[in-house]
Amino acid sequence: MLSNKKIILGVSGGIAAYKAVELTRLLTKAGADVHVIMTHAAQEFIAPLTFQTLSANPVHTALFDLIAEQEIGHISLADRADLFIIAPATANIIGKIAAGIADDMLTTTVMATKAPVLFAPAMNVNMYTNPIYQENEEKLRRLGYLFEAPVSGSLACGWEGEGKLAAPETIFDCAVATLTKKDLSGKKVLITAGPTREEIDPVRYISNYSSGKMGYALARAAQRRGAQVLLISGPTSLAKPYGVTVVTVTSANEMQREVMARVDACDVVIKAAAVADYRPELRNSTKIKKKGDSAIISLVKNPDILSELGKMDYGSRPRPFLVGFAAETDALAENAAKKLFEKRLDIIVANDVSKADAGFNVDTNRALLFFKDGSSTDCGLMSKDQLAVTILDHVISRLTEQPGA
Ligand code: C5P
Repeated sequence: MLSNKKIILGVSGGIAAYKAVELTRLLTKAGADVHVIMTHAAQEFIAPLTFQTLSANPVHTALFDLIAEQEIGHISLADRADLFIIAPATANIIGKIAAGIADDMLTTTVMATKAPVLFAPAMNVNMYTNPIYQENEEKLRRLGYLFEAPVSGSLACGWEGEGKLAAPETIFDCAVATLTKKDLSGKKVLITAGPTREEIDPVRYISNYSSGKMGYALARAAQRRGAQVLLISGPTSLAKPYGVTVVTVTSANEMQREVMARVDACDVVIKAAAVADYRPELRNSTKIKKKGDSAIISLVKNPDILSELGKMDYGSRPRPFLVGFAAETDALAENAAKKLFEKRLDIIVANDVSKADAGFNVDTNRALLFFKDGSSTDCGLMSKDQLAVTILDHVISRLTEQPGA
């Protein structure tokens, strides 16, 4: 995801410096070439060796480091960066940069870079709300510097409030989004994810093994590409994707209601949810008691949301680009092609859920993509994150071919 990207990670002196270690791990795992610069105060909290080991690059601590000056130096490091992250960014470092002070390796390199700079502030709540700090942040924002706001919580100083460093995963997501081409900018994308639950009584339900991972990966990937993303999610244990509006639902009927209420202004709809095809005809208001050796639950058909979207009249608006999923255990290609045609889709993503490395509840998928024009492509085994990027590549290339897109 970040291969060929050179990222400078500036670490300034705050207790949250240890979280920059996890951020380094996330960035390097995603393929980035990470160069860490630590302020003098940061080294009081954490040893440079920790970052050096994880980044596999020398850590810069001094402005006039002879080896660094000879081999790269702060100017060439600044020149070669694709992104500059400062996490944690203290009130002091933000104040210095806002005032144009460049008196150490970190501030000098920030001053010299043309790369986007992302600050992740972390400080005491009173420092954070201090008008001097706020004015500095405002000035830097005005000049195009990016900020990932701190979150509320109990702070190391004993205070409660805003000032806690954003989670490393959030800073990572923001970094990836900053480095991603915004080819979905201005587009509204609605994605459904996860299973639905159809209640039998207050303690029982019918559902399936969908984890929501594929839909959430699509939501993250579309957001990074600049889309305005609305994720309508059935019950999952996944964290809300960064920068995405999430609406949670339980049943197929609720999902239908939310989708229909919001589809109008959408350019793309991706239905990755594993919607239950049937629900109990009656939901018992009290727990059904155990009686006899067998029990029969009568089921009725749920609305097929995607079919409705395919057949709906959109009036003067162009129909959204429709992507469906087909989870199959047999006759994959035939079933998928049939669904593409019957539901009037633009693309169907078919996967064989009988395979251990594809479909429900795993991080990888093996998908075949079928297109409206009869063509298809085999994506092979890939991570759900990679598959999300591939699906969006196909959506974008076809979306631009459509009139009115
Ligand atoms: O269940 P089926 O295999 O037909 O699902 C194919 C596609 O249709 C999926 O994208 C799924 O989200 C959607 N679907 C739906 N409403 C249903 C059943 C499926 O939108 N009731």
